[in-house]
Amino acid sequence: MKPTSSPKPSTSRVSLIIILPLILFIFVTLIVYPNESKSQATTSDCTTLVDPHVNFIEQVRVKPDFRLFIGVLTVPGNYERRNLIRLAYAIQPNHTAHVDIKFVFCNVTKEEDIVLVALEIIRYEDIIILHCAENMDGGKTYTYFSSLPKIFEGEQPYDYVMKTDDDTYLRLNNLVDTLNRLPRESLYFGLMSPCFGLKFDHYMSGMGYVVSWDLVEWIATSDVARTHLKGPEDLITGRWFREGGKTVHMYDATPAMYDYFEPRHVLCFRHDFIPDTVAVHKLKDNLRWARTLKYFNVTDRLKPSRLYHLP
Ligand SMILES: *[C@@H]1O[C@H](CO)[C@@H](O)[C@H](O)[C@H]1NC(C)=O
Ligand SMILES: *[C@@H]1O[C@H](CO)[C@@H](O)[C@H](O)[C@H]1NC(C)=O
Ligand SMILES: *[C@@H]1O[C@H](CO)[C@@H](O)[C@H](O)[C@H]1NC(C)=O
Ligand SMILES: *[C@@H]1O[C@H](CO)[C@@H](O)[C@H](O)[C@H]1NC(C)=O
Repeated sequence: MKPTSSPKPSTSRVSLIIILPLILFIFVTLIVYPNESKSQATTSDCTTLVDPHVNFIEQVRVKPDFRLFIGVLTVPGNYERRNLIRLAYAIQPNHTAHVDIKFVFCNVTKEEDIVLVALEIIRYEDIIILHCAENMDGGKTYTYFSSLPKIFEGEQPYDYVMKTDDDTYLRLNNLVDTLNRLPRESLYFGLMSPCFGLKFDHYMSGMGYVVSWDLVEWIATSDVARTHLKGPEDLITGRWFREGGKTVHMYDATPAMYDYFEPRHVLCFRHDFIPDTVAVHKLKDNLRWARTLKYFNVTDRLKPSRLYHLP
């Protein structure tokens, strides 16, 4: 699995891109550090300046952090879960990327939801309402991906888009660290499913998968995607790329993404918590969320106080 090579610019442009900054660098160096450059010139020749290792370090340092958009597909009525997810992500430690998380609905129709969801939006600004009727496997994921280029038009572009559900807990630090090592294009990252069987029909589990922005744009314009909507959404997404003839680089996060452990149902995608977790899925009740957050020491920062006591 290799990253795609982007089309090569012409040789003259490449040399211009390399030489111009180099000349500028030498010029600035001579002016600002006349003494340092003199002493350098006596101890080494100019090849030091184009040492590939040094260049590489410079590039890494100046490279802007990537931008990730995470859509949590949920339904208007899940108020309590949204609150829990907001809390869980709000107190996660720092990471190096720009990550935006929003909840994603189809259209809101119930009288109470129209008002209560409006309150949430005013307070949190973290909800997207798509033009569709609420559905599980009838194309909500397609509407989600294909709406994003229009929704974010004219804004600073994202490098990656993630689709996840409201029963998945993501450890953003580990997700960001993992994505930092992966290509920015043609990327299809997640828990490879099924974890057994033949390779040709593999897809990334719906618990949470990341596609690079070029694939989001491809989905938005692909006739194959637009006309193949019905069925398990994660499996269908994998088929769009295959049947649309789109080359994607699949990166399997096993064992860092998995289902909450249930001893009676041991399967290859379900195991006990591990420290290097990216995502835990099937968090269908508060007890499971609590045990998961406890394992990852999320509440360790609670300060002692006379105001409260917890066992
Ligand atoms: C540069 O070197 C000269 C003598 O070699 C010294 O007098 C001067 O202070 C140095 N300048 C700087 C900016 O270090
Ligand atoms: C995140 O980083 C900022 C600045 O480096 C720091 O002030 C803040 O305490 C950090 N937050 C956490 C949760 O580590
Ligand atoms: C909203 O959903 C209803 C079904 O619940 C549907 O009839 C209607 O067309 C949808 N509206 C839009 C704008 O998609
Ligand atoms: C949680 O904290 C305990 C005690 O400090 C430590 O041993 C454990 O490795 C931590 N767990 C994780 C997942 O970081």
